[in-house]
Amino acid sequence: MLYNNYKCKKLGNVEDLILKSSLRKKLKKNQVRVKVLAIGLNYVDTLMIKGTYQYKNKIPFIPGTEACGVVVEQNCNNKKLLNKKTIIISKNRCFSEEIILEYEELILIKKNISNIQGSSFFMSSLTAYIALKEIAKVKKKDVLLITGASGAIGKACINLALHLGLDVICIVGNNKKLEVIKKMGIKKVLNIKGDIKKKIMEFTNQKGVNIALDINGFLKCQNILSCIKWRGKYLIVGFTDNNITSIKTNYILIKGLQIFGVRAGEYLRNSTLNKRKIIIKKVFQLFDLGVFNIKEYKIITFNKLIQGLVSIRDRKSMGKIIVKTKYYTKY
Ligand SMILES: NC(=O)c1ccc[n+]([C@@H]2O[C@H](COP(=O)([O-])OP(=O)(O)OC[C@H]3O[C@@H](n4cnc5c(N)ncnc54)[C@H](OP(=O)(O)O)[C@@H]3O)[C@@H](O)[C@H]2O)c1
Repeated sequence: MLYNNYKCKKLGNVEDLILKSSLRKKLKKNQVRVKVLAIGLNYVDTLMIKGTYQYKNKIPFIPGTEACGVVVEQNCNNKKLLNKKTIIISKNRCFSEEIILEYEELILIKKNISNIQGSSFFMSSLTAYIALKEIAKVKKKDVLLITGASGAIGKACINLALHLGLDVICIVGNNKKLEVIKKMGIKKVLNIKGDIKKKIMEFTNQKGVNIALDINGFLKCQNILSCIKWRGKYLIVGFTDNNITSIKTNYILIKGLQIFGVRAGEYLRNSTLNKRKIIIKKVFQLFDLGVFNIKEYKIITFNKLIQGLVSIRDRKSMGKIIVKTKYYTKY
């Protein structure tokens, strides 16, 4: 039996992905076959295809890090798994109509979570939860600065921060994005083109922020460390456009700053099984409360997947882009 998928045969441009048919493989012990219903596109997919992400896939590979599907075959001696819906979070393989998963990779979800949400809310929500609750250990009324705020991770962080009662300041790339963030309930939004430091200090009555969450490596463009309060926290979440930089150690010493690297997936993998279950449960509880619902999205068909990636890479996309496969249904 054949199924379609996108292959990356050489690292570089997303335009070079090849749509191909593959022959189904037999399941090994403890594996399940999942029919993919919807795929969430992420900035990280473009980095993986470019070969600039910290994790390197071996070429050729099927890219794609987030999807939602239904179990259609199992070799785990567990017939109850059949027809169960699952979230798929992986370093590869999601740009496909079918995927083989190890039993441990399943994140089973209730049928009443739509396939749109299932394919796209979890990764950004998990990252937001781990960054703010687990690592920054935010408290009510903390002042939080978010860079790259208009993207998927940014929006999840905004929603969680509002839910937790934080005072949020956002930095975005243009005025259109600024309006989107204002509509989310954030009054203090800055365009990257202005004098960010001056504005942040004005917003905070010259006190500075408690926490800076750097989602796109903005520190390389402007020294936001100087807007952080004594004993404040700087969290490195990601880099767009290879925005990697070095940090002056005198800033860390003088202000007694704490610097953290955020890697949500690794954080979860390195937690105990019990802790992992608690984190995942909390993320789903917040989703049920509506905190992590993806509100702004565009649905495209499987054959338009490359165009979706291009718009993410070229900073043109405004909400989440979700790819529906031929198996797609609403629930
Ligand atoms: N640490 C973790 O565990 C973790 C987990 C998942 C993802 N990430 C990383 O987090 C980062 C953001 O991911 P995301 O899913 O939120 O991406 P996204 O939805 O594409 O958003 C990224 C945002 O960064 C800004 N940006 C700045 N320079 C850019 C550039 N050259 N190209 C594209 N966007 C640029 C854009 O906002 P403006 O135009 O408004 O500036 C954009 O909205 C990525 O680096 C990703 O690898 C980290």
